[in-house]
Amino acid sequence: MIYCCPKDRGALSQTESNLVCERCSSKYEIINGIPRFVAMENYSSSFGFEWKQFSKTQLDSASMMSQSMDRITGGMGWYAEDVKGKLVLDVGCGSGRFSEVIAKWGGRVVSLDYSVAIDEAKKNLNNLGLNADFVQGDALSLPFPDNTFDAVFSIGVLQHTADPLLALREMCRVLRPGGLIGLHGIYERTLKKSIHPKYLFRPITTRIPTETLFKIVKAWVGFSLPISRFMRKKLKLRQGLVERIMSVANYEGAVPGIGDSNVYEWALLDTFDWYSPAYDNPLTKKEVEDALAVGKIDKVIEVDPHGINYKGYKQK
Ligand SMILES: C[S@@+](CC[C@H](N)C(=O)[O-])C[C@H]1O[C@@H](n2cnc3c(N)ncnc32)[C@H](O)[C@@H]1O
Ligand SMILES: [Zn+2]
Repeated sequence: MIYCCPKDRGALSQTESNLVCERCSSKYEIINGIPRFVAMENYSSSFGFEWKQFSKTQLDSASMMSQSMDRITGGMGWYAEDVKGKLVLDVGCGSGRFSEVIAKWGGRVVSLDYSVAIDEAKKNLNNLGLNADFVQGDALSLPFPDNTFDAVFSIGVLQHTADPLLALREMCRVLRPGGLIGLHGIYERTLKKSIHPKYLFRPITTRIPTETLFKIVKAWVGFSLPISRFMRKKLKLRQGLVERIMSVANYEGAVPGIGDSNVYEWALLDTFDWYSPAYDNPLTKKEVEDALAVGKIDKVIEVDPHGINYKGYKQK
């Protein structure tokens, strides 16, 4: 078994529907074939809701685009040969869009998420006949012994935890010496990025019950997206500027081949994603680089300077 107790890293023994720690006797239920190391409903429930609503939206197999794969290659510099036959951990898998790519490339994937999005990821990969393990757990206290994985990655997650640097240390801990780490889609803390309408409204929106907030965001996107699209197409204004003026995510012209229905659905998904998560804790590049150094990650390569996009290898 690859799991251990997240509290004290004790070995686990398996009964029919539980994993039990041999050291502290903590019991973790297995529900729907998924070990649950955290309460099923928790601070990340808005993501559980989000990924149930948009379970397939950004999966390459459903959108018929290669956007998820392109983000893995372009944002982390990972290719099929890096993961084929390797044991790979996806930290914060959401609906499983990146796990899907790694599994198709022949990686032996373990997908972990804090929320019940993990059930959507399992459904999605199983429907495609892809093999992976799924676990509901906490990036801040990963339920794996040291040096378990050949490769570990996380995309768009660390900022949504209470302590992103601790999550990064945990990723380094469970990576084996010589193993590969990839980071992409971490919010960067810069003055420019802090000037965003979401930071004005989040103190209110994060207190609104998830389903009510979703209705509000839906109404807002219905109103603002057409104006935003007009500003992009006719006035030729930049994506970042239009996003800030209209406070709606608009990928028109930014994601090649995105069709009209995808523009709407992605706008709804990502605008909700700005306003609903409990945490929005960006990091600086220096903080990430320092944490990688502490985690004994060598040969750190900045894959793309636009944002936080790194790959590196753990010292042997
Ligand atoms: C913006 S979504 C990104 C999902 C996926 N990586 C993607 O890019 O499509 C952030 C994910 O992080 C998960 N998450 C938040 N806090 C977490 C934690 N402490 N441990 C593990 N996952 C967490 C959420 O449940 C959510 O699914
Ligand atoms: Zn224990």
